[in-house]
Amino acid sequence: MAIAATVELLHRARAGGYGVPAFNVIGIEHAEAIVRGAELERAPVILQLSENAVKYHLGAIEPIGRACAELARAARVPVALHLDHATTVGLCERAVAAGFSSVMLDTTDLPDAENARQTVALVAWAHAHDTGVEAALGVVGGKDALQTTDEGKTDPDAARAFVAQTGADLLAVAVGTSHYMVEQTARIDLDLVSRLRAAVPVPLVLHGSSGVPDADLAEAVRRGIVKVNLATHLNKAFTGAVRSFLDANPDVVDPRKYLTEARDAVTDAVRDRVRLLGGVGQA
Ligand code: G3H
Ligand code: ZN
Repeated sequence: MAIAATVELLHRARAGGYGVPAFNVIGIEHAEAIVRGAELERAPVILQLSENAVKYHLGAIEPIGRACAELARAARVPVALHLDHATTVGLCERAVAAGFSSVMLDTTDLPDAENARQTVALVAWAHAHDTGVEAALGVVGGKDALQTTDEGKTDPDAARAFVAQTGADLLAVAVGTSHYMVEQTARIDLDLVSRLRAAVPVPLVLHGSSGVPDADLAEAVRRGIVKVNLATHLNKAFTGAVRSFLDANPDVVDPRKYLTEARDAVTDAVRDRVRLLGGVGQA
């Protein structure tokens, strides 16, 4: 199967009322587990690589990116490839050359007008290369602290105008989540999700989804979140499995022993998230 087009896949989900998980890949075991989990649930899925993951791979996106592309092509379900939280256009270019179908250039630190200006330029380039663009407005994920006030949340009218001005294909919104949460205690503003869905004509993206309680995550999808970014949730499963296995088998030195456990645990976590978001059988 060809690598799926992220934007098309998400518009189908938006029309069908289900969410598509975008799982962050660290190493190839993550990617294998994500694709296997999606196949077992017959669900579309997005493999995403962050700039931080690229840095972990010694700054080169090509080896891990092309491995993801091969897994996507060999999959029995639609698998899209997304570059997450890039800070340079150069990395977006390398991702597209490696087969990625969408990119996010994280310019949310800039004033809104400059964020819009850079997004317009990226969209022009990306569309000429048949690639989708995820833009963001607001303090996405409030990376350093839990978002507990309305400050930094995405305003629906501003979001509508931003998408119209920039031509972005997907919009990441700030609705109360934070990155890297290991407990599901975030308080997502569900009313704001509904208002954003009504205001914005493109699929909405939720960052920091690992910290959201299950019932609220499912409700956020019912109200209009389509792309659900999940990283920490899988990393907890991966690391927990490695830790238990090595605690029980302290003499093991072959990485395949504990990485098999980790990959299986991630596969189970992927299946569980797909079911929660309503993606079963949607491939
Ligand atoms: O950029 C990463 C995603 O937004 C996932 O964040 O690790 O908090 O789930 P998370
Ligand atoms: Zn994020």
